[in-house]
Amino acid sequence: MRISKYPEGALGIFSARNSGTQLFEGDFTTSGRVALLRLLSKLVPANSLILFPAYHCIALSETCLNAGYRISYYRISENFHPELDDIRSILDAERVEAIVLIHPFGVILDSSELANICKESSTYLIEDVAHFDTNSEEIMRKIPFHGDALIASPRKFYGVYDGGFLMCKKGVFTRKSQRKRFGYESRSIKYFLSKSLGNTSVSLEYSRIEKTPKNSDIREMGYIDPRFDPNGQWVISTLSKFILKNTSTTKVHSIRSRNYEGIVEGLRNLSTGRVVLETEPLNAYVVPYFIDDPNTYYAIRDAGIEAMRWEGISAMGCPVADLYQDHLIQLPCHQSMNGNDVDFVCETLKSLQ
Ligand SMILES: Cc1ncc(COP(=O)(O)O)c(C=O)c1O
Repeated sequence: MRISKYPEGALGIFSARNSGTQLFEGDFTTSGRVALLRLLSKLVPANSLILFPAYHCIALSETCLNAGYRISYYRISENFHPELDDIRSILDAERVEAIVLIHPFGVILDSSELANICKESSTYLIEDVAHFDTNSEEIMRKIPFHGDALIASPRKFYGVYDGGFLMCKKGVFTRKSQRKRFGYESRSIKYFLSKSLGNTSVSLEYSRIEKTPKNSDIREMGYIDPRFDPNGQWVISTLSKFILKNTSTTKVHSIRSRNYEGIVEGLRNLSTGRVVLETEPLNAYVVPYFIDDPNTYYAIRDAGIEAMRWEGISAMGCPVADLYQDHLIQLPCHQSMNGNDVDFVCETLKSLQ
């Protein structure tokens, strides 16, 4: 299914939202974190306090910290839902300008009650749907958003070099001029080629594109990947946008579902741990897996499986985040994986019992 029926710069997410009475507007960015920063810069004053769930991808909160926002964390329960009493007590104690709600791993959380709490305290609610296929109008229609704005990271789902998306109520967000340069565009093309050609494309490693960054690109915190540039000065590359707009969401979903089910089935009854979501969530992003021994994570990665774990988030006052940062891993079920890859994931975990 081509999605070119959507207006320029719009994904399924946009189309689904604009069918209601309330009009939303949105735009592509280079990544999810840049989408959040651009939103915050429009919605809240500099130095504002932003609340995140304690269990989160630290890249997101660190980007906000580096941009000068103050950060605090709220507790979540084991099923990822926010602990609303904790949020209420934080709001009672200090002025919070925005709360970020993450819908993790393709799981939809009910945001209605939190939206009411936010309304009462005039706090923005930003819903993070980075783990959803925002290209798919069908999926987006199933998410009952209650927030004021949302951010997405379509690059994750489609494995393209760059791509973030933000959306918010009309009138708040105005397009900021962003730079587009050949150097940035060519990174995207190089990424695509190296993915397509595999590791055999040795010559690409020596291309001009990879040359040492210019002084102007080196900040205090080191060289910044332009996709995550906190100034948000880049616009999504033409190639990534083209791929996003022309990929069949149906096909991607059926392959991901097949992989998800295969992995869940293969890991059932293994003594290494337990599958967290037995039934596939709204869309298969990764397979969250609870490992009994935290070291299993390293063994899985050493075997060549690109598992992920949200780390660096302990001691934020949330026992679940403390537990999950060591024990909850994300196994890939990406559309580029075939049946052999799925078997490999299952066999590897089996061998680690
Ligand atoms: C839930 C969530 N939101 C946002 C982000 C940021 O997206 P991006 O990597 O495109 O900046 C990530 C991962 O980094 C994430 O896991």
